[in-house]
Amino acid sequence: MERLHGLAGWYLKGRTLVLDAGWEGKLCLTPALPGVVEVRLRRGSPWSQEPPVPSVTVDPARWPDLPPPRVEDRGDHLMVFVEGAAVRVDKSPLRLHFWAPGPQGGAAGEPLLSDAPEGGVEMDGWQVGVRFRLTPEDHFFGLGQPDQRQGPIPLDHRGRRYPIWHKHLPAPSRMVLPVLVSLRGYGLFVDNPWPAEWDLGTDGATFGYRAQAGQLVYYFIAGPALTTVLDRYTRLVGRPSLAPRWAFGFLQSKFGYRTQEEVEGLAAAFRERQIPLSGIVLDLFWFRHMGDLAFNRAAFPDPAGLIRHLREQGVRVIVIEEPYLTVDSRLYPEAERLGLLGMRPDGGPYVFPFWAGRAALVDFTQPLACQWWADRHKPLMDLGIAGWWADLNEPEVHPPDMVHHGGVAAAVHNLYALLMIRSVAMAHEQHRPDMRLFIMSRAGWPGTQALGACHWSGDVATTWEALAHQPVLGLCMGMSGMPYWNSDIGGFAGEPPSPELFVRWIQFGTFTPVMRPHGSHQDREPWAFGPEAEAIVRRYIRLRYRLLPYTYTLAWEAHRQGLPFMRPLVLHYPRDPKCLTIRDQYLWGRDLLVAPVTAPGQQSRPVYLPEGDWYDFWTGRRIRGGRWIQAPAPLETLPLFVRAGAILPEAPWDRSQAPGWEELTLNIYPGPEVSEFLLYEDDGETMAFARGEYATIRFTYRPAEGGGLLTIDPPQGAYAGMPPVRRYRAAIRLPRRPRRVTVDGTLLTPRRSRETLERFPTGWWYDRQRKVLYVRLPPVSGGLSLKVQ
Ligand code: NOJ
Repeated sequence: MERLHGLAGWYLKGRTLVLDAGWEGKLCLTPALPGVVEVRLRRGSPWSQEPPVPSVTVDPARWPDLPPPRVEDRGDHLMVFVEGAAVRVDKSPLRLHFWAPGPQGGAAGEPLLSDAPEGGVEMDGWQVGVRFRLTPEDHFFGLGQPDQRQGPIPLDHRGRRYPIWHKHLPAPSRMVLPVLVSLRGYGLFVDNPWPAEWDLGTDGATFGYRAQAGQLVYYFIAGPALTTVLDRYTRLVGRPSLAPRWAFGFLQSKFGYRTQEEVEGLAAAFRERQIPLSGIVLDLFWFRHMGDLAFNRAAFPDPAGLIRHLREQGVRVIVIEEPYLTVDSRLYPEAERLGLLGMRPDGGPYVFPFWAGRAALVDFTQPLACQWWADRHKPLMDLGIAGWWADLNEPEVHPPDMVHHGGVAAAVHNLYALLMIRSVAMAHEQHRPDMRLFIMSRAGWPGTQALGACHWSGDVATTWEALAHQPVLGLCMGMSGMPYWNSDIGGFAGEPPSPELFVRWIQFGTFTPVMRPHGSHQDREPWAFGPEAEAIVRRYIRLRYRLLPYTYTLAWEAHRQGLPFMRPLVLHYPRDPKCLTIRDQYLWGRDLLVAPVTAPGQQSRPVYLPEGDWYDFWTGRRIRGGRWIQAPAPLETLPLFVRAGAILPEAPWDRSQAPGWEELTLNIYPGPEVSEFLLYEDDGETMAFARGEYATIRFTYRPAEGGGLLTIDPPQGAYAGMPPVRRYRAAIRLPRRPRRVTVDGTLLTPRRSRETLERFPTGWWYDRQRKVLYVRLPPVSGGLSLKVQ
């Protein structure tokens, strides 16, 4: 193992500090963003002749114009100050130590991250790596989606070893990413697509990363808040895109719907049963051969009519596509003629046996192939396809000797899904630039989150064990800057799930970024598991729609700050050691705590409520936090809690997909201090929001003796379709009946019952049993204040 032994000299080249270690190589430190430092190894001879390979993920052209590092030579070390971070460079041996800036901008206290004494940059033949010191505070979150077949996946990956090599055979997915967030208050991203490995402290003293080949380029991302790390990391690799609002509704899928008639009937059944539906996903029966990228007209005689008809009912169509072209497919001959396929070492197209037939792989490392594939989407876009499903893109079968335009198979394997998705994104950019992208993708790489991708955990089994694995996968993905994630509700492979398993999976799926049942050659419709299950499932799907104003605001937070929808408790309670390991419950945004039931026959389950007070979502009971409780969980109940201090906006389930929320109920869960919620809204599916066409509305609640003051600010901003007038309701959890309720100084009339209240446009009623004050407010176009005394 070679290391950098000593600093021979240093100089500034533009914004880069070059640390010269003589014949062993150079380390180049560049401030990328505030609080983000790029460390790049330029190896010595014989590697020194090689030009740097441009990154597929990080685009330095978009970095702000930060000042160059300020360097102080302090004898045995250099101190390097950049915006938002500081680095100490030990001269002999050459080792780095990183800080977030202290109060005076200096490097106070212990560094957040240090090279290991026998570590730092490592080189061995083609291999490159880096090894850091492991401290007691290092607990590692993120890392994408580790292997589900290796037993339960922990939330904290300290002490584990993970290969970075996408695979789905045997199923389900493994998609480990070169990104982690440490509880100590920093993040690390290694920008190298080659097969690699994380060793996260198996020796108890160090942790590190090693790639089989390629360049060593890594980014130190300063916190110390974990939310700051996610913010900075997603700024570096691309902010998660904002999905269209329909993607947060209910998407019905299975493998698969076979005919136009069946799909029409499916939508009609949802309507009849009064279960809201936003999308139908078409698996591979929509085409004849894999690689047609066109409807099979025998089974779908009028796709345009079908899509239009569904669209009139508010239902979008999403179609599957694969990077494999079978030799008898529509597109194969052209792809072969144009040389757009992965090649054999002797130069011909690489055709191999595949489960869908003899097939070849589109070579998305070729710009021409990307453009060609993008163009093949245009007719489908014209038909009105709203979303895409990029399957098998690890790629599932990838002969090791396949030659790509962009290099050997090993060099491009992990990047492949990103390149495929980029091609679909390109189609959007060129042919439908004003509509938002939504792509379900089985594999991904840092950057796919910025291209509309939502990943799912692959072909998971239809078992309780598989369900129990799922929540933590969503949390790992969220902590990797990939907030869009879901799992096949009901499981994919195996015996059909029992009604109980399906119900519990639906309950969990209600609080995943995308809610989509799926399964192999089995029914997954809400009514497929009997009437008792259907009634519960309907209730949760409607709850999903009711909470859309809250969820959509989370999508905005994901887009603006890289924050996940599904958050491990540790993200908001980093100082509570109990939160470090909790992997089977999570926060949905800041304010909801979800504790899914993932075992059969449960009537209750233990739930840890972090510090502060919480309310049981179902009963409204206020519960002291900072302790474990046993939460009731009969089949119809998903243990769900609301943080005291939350304002939860809610829309009627059957109108929540309308362009704007004309009717909103503000559920207020008073805490000890002022509560605040900033609601985000826009037209729901175009890119107009990116041009500033959106609105936010601030709600504030100030608790006072016996009541409180709710303030609704006038909307800030505007967008097409924004409701000119709104009808608000408030549901305030209050221990006692108030004496008076006034709106902007005018007394509101108390009503005799909830039913009476419904008959009047305004008024209030206090439910003594549930301890909730219900208020109907007069319509407003701007803001108002509601005083409860
Ligand atoms: C594999 C995918 O993971 C699964 O979801 C899909 O149903 C099948 N391919 C068939 O297309």
